Formats: sequence, C-alpha cells, structure tokens
Amino acid sequence: MKKIAVIGSGYVGLVAGTCLADFGLNVMCVDNNKDKIEGLKKGIIPIYEPGLDDLVKRNMYYKRLDFTTDIKSAVEESEVIFIAVGTPPKDDGSADLQYVLQVAKDIAMYMNGYKVIVDKSTVPIGTGQKVKKVVNDILKEREVDYKFDVVSNPEFLREGSAIYDFTHPDRVVIGSESEKATKIMRDVYRVLYLNETPFVETNIETAEMIKYASNAFLAMKITFINEVANLCEKVGANVQHVAKAMGRDGRISPKFLHAGPGYGGSCFPKDTKALANIAREHGEVISLIETTVKANENQKLKMVEKIKNAMGSLEGKTLGILGITFKPKTDDMREAPSLVILTELAKMGAKMKIFDPEGEKEGKWRLGHIKDSIEFYTDEYEANINADALIIITEWHQFRNMDLDRLKESMKDNYFFDLRNIYERELVEEKGFKYFGVGV
Ligand code: UDX
Repeated sequence: MKKIAVIGSGYVGLVAGTCLADFGLNVMCVDNNKDKIEGLKKGIIPIYEPGLDDLVKRNMYYKRLDFTTDIKSAVEESEVIFIAVGTPPKDDGSADLQYVLQVAKDIAMYMNGYKVIVDKSTVPIGTGQKVKKVVNDILKEREVDYKFDVVSNPEFLREGSAIYDFTHPDRVVIGSESEKATKIMRDVYRVLYLNETPFVETNIETAEMIKYASNAFLAMKITFINEVANLCEKVGANVQHVAKAMGRDGRISPKFLHAGPGYGGSCFPKDTKALANIAREHGEVISLIETTVKANENQKLKMVEKIKNAMGSLEGKTLGILGITFKPKTDDMREAPSLVILTELAKMGAKMKIFDPEGEKEGKWRLGHIKDSIEFYTDEYEANINADALIIITEWHQFRNMDLDRLKESMKDNYFFDLRNIYERELVEEKGFKYFGVGV
C-alpha cells in the first residue's frame, strides 16, 4: 500500500486525505493544531461537510487513515507528501506563502529518501520552484543528497460537495518536471485514472496557473450575470430566463450563471485578488479580473441599496435574515456576502433576527462587531416573527419550501427579499408579500 502524508488538515487536506484513503491508500493526515488532531483521532470532524464524518470513521476503522501532529514520522514514512496548508490573503491581496514554505522546510529537515512533494494548496505561480529551492537549501545544509520532485496538483473541490468533487473530478491536473513523479501521481490517482478521468499532465507553472485561471473565470462568470441582473431590473427583463437561454449555448454552459448577492467563500475572493496581484508583479494587468473584484464588492452593497430603496429608513426596523454562510451545506462564513450586507444594515439602525442551519457558531464571532444588532433563532419561522422584512441571503434547501402563509401571518410587514432567486414572484405576491429578487 502506497503511503501518503497530507500536511494541513483543513478543508482541502482533510477531504483529500480521507478520499485518498478511501481509494485504498495508506494516509497520514498531519496538523500542528493538537486539539484538532486529538478530536479527529476520536472521530470529531472540525468542519461541517456532508458525508465526511462517515468516510473518516470508515477509513480509520480499516486503518488506512490516521492523524498526527508528528510531521517528522509522517515525512519519514511516506513517499508522497501533500502540502495542503492555508495560503491566506495578505493585506495587499497577495497570497501569504509562509505556511507552505515552512512545511517545505520541515519536509526537507526530515527527508530520509526519495519523496514527491505535492503542492495541493492554491499557490501563486512560481511557488513550486520556491518549494524546490527551500528543500534544496536545507538538504545542502544537512549535507545529504536525497532526491525529490516537486509536483503541483491543484484541487477543484467545492465545499458542500467536497467528497463527490474529489472522487469525480472533471480533470486531474499534474504539473511536474519528472516522468518518475508523474508516474507516481498517476498511481496515487489510480482509481480516477482507471475511470478515464481526463489527466492534464503539464509543467509546474502551468498547473499553478490552471487553478487561478479556473477560479478567476468562474468568479468572472458569476459577476457577469450579476451585472446583467442589475441591468435586467432597470429594463424589465428577467435574468433567470436570460441565464437559461444563454446557458443553452454549449459554448457558455448553464453553470455559474445564477445571479445573487455576489460570490464569497475561501477561494474566489482570495484567488481573484491573488491573480490580479501576480499579473501586476509581472508587469501585466488582467483588467477583467480587477473589475470582477470591484464589481463583486459592489454587488453586496447593491443588495443593501435594494433593501433600503424599498423600505426607506431602516432605523428600528426588524429584519428576518435567512442564511448567512457563503453558500448552503457549509458552516463556512469566509467572505460571505452576509458579512457586508448585515454590517451595512446594522449601521442603518436595523435589528436582525438570524437563522442559519449551520452558520450560528461562526456567525457569532464573525459578526461580533454588530452583536447588539443581531440575534440568532432556531428556525426560519422564529426568525421572522414580528419582522418587517424577510431576507434570504443563502439558499439552504429548507428555505425553498417555506410555509408562506405562516410567515406572512407572523410578520409585522410584508417585504420579501429573495437574494438568491429561489421563489417565483407570482407565488410570493399572491401570498401578500412585496417581492424583490435579483434581476427578476
Ligand atoms: C470554489 C470552486 O468552485 C472550486 O472549484 C474551488 O476549488 C474552490 O472555490 P467553493 O468556494 O466551495 O468552490 O464554492 P462555489 O460553489 O464555487 O461557490 C462560490 C461562491 O459563488 C458562493 O458564494 C456561491 O454562492 C457563488 N455563486 C456560485 C453564485 O453566486 N452564483 C453561481 O451561479 C454560482
């Protein structure tokens, strides 16, 4: 059984490690957070991701998956070592590589033979070469001559469907400078290789670029439809129909054409800014992406404007807020549009009654600065009692089929802001609400 170490047990590392174990490999997941590792050893999953709990437990039971804080033995015992630590944005938008490079140093310190060092984290173009240099420098200091290869293997999984995405990818990208390492990676992904998943085998820089270009393109696509939606509102067009018809064109495709309050999450905001930054560093400007970043910020504020324009002064108004995570099926609130929207609404004097099926814990600390303006409730109905308006920010499934009569009855006023276009205007208006969607 091939032995794999995955360093960094965050979203990507934990899912990748668990899924690789499920592919029959022997995986050691490493993290320097003791509590996290102790929890994982007991089967406590630090994130909410559907299906992950069972998959971790199953693979631990079969002893293909284990967790440790001991990076030394994990490195010593593995042939393939994935780096899956965070690359958070710095103040200027560029990716902070300190964790990736520290792990590279640790790997070099403990190397005891040939290793394939795989960059799984989304890293700026050129990072693979930096990792190579860091490892080489330390091996020189140690006066040892172990061989190693660096591979870039970006991950495209989405939160909320991470396991499905990892095990059914549209493509596997392997950026490598050595046939030996490429072959080992094909072996790691043998299950997918045999399934005829397309493998894109290329150099390290190209693999690094593929990830940024993919995420930036998707962010741009969402932003495009959001801006079209804003115009639709002005001209009396329906963006849902526009997107549906556009999507029928195979060259465009229907995915990621859903208008809303702006994209959020741990990837798109960070990666768009990082790509724009990388371009500038090289004397290039990717103006489409720079504009995308600005337009997305603007989209969140447009939602606030929409609410204010409809309701007038928000001073003393009560708003029922449904969904605050950046998207459904996750408890993640990183860069969630709700953070900006709720902060602005609080500034205008609104009181907000929030319900999110998974977002309360993180929401409480991320919205700590407006804690006097918010309160959390146990379901969508409780959150709307005596509310002047109901605002859907995240499209959790359970919000798609609400008892509108019950809501209307318990609310003080009848504003219905559907920032994810999950209701038909006619249906909501029939129940006596004033309906506001995005571009519909
Ligand atoms: C994304 C990429 O999809 C994934 O390939 C990459 O590895 C990491 O970043 P994720 O951030 O988990 O994944 O979520 P995703 O489903 O892509 O949604 C990102 C944001 O875009 C969310 O805020 C979502 O609400 C928004 N979005 C998405 C829209 O507003 N409209 C759409 O049509 C699609």
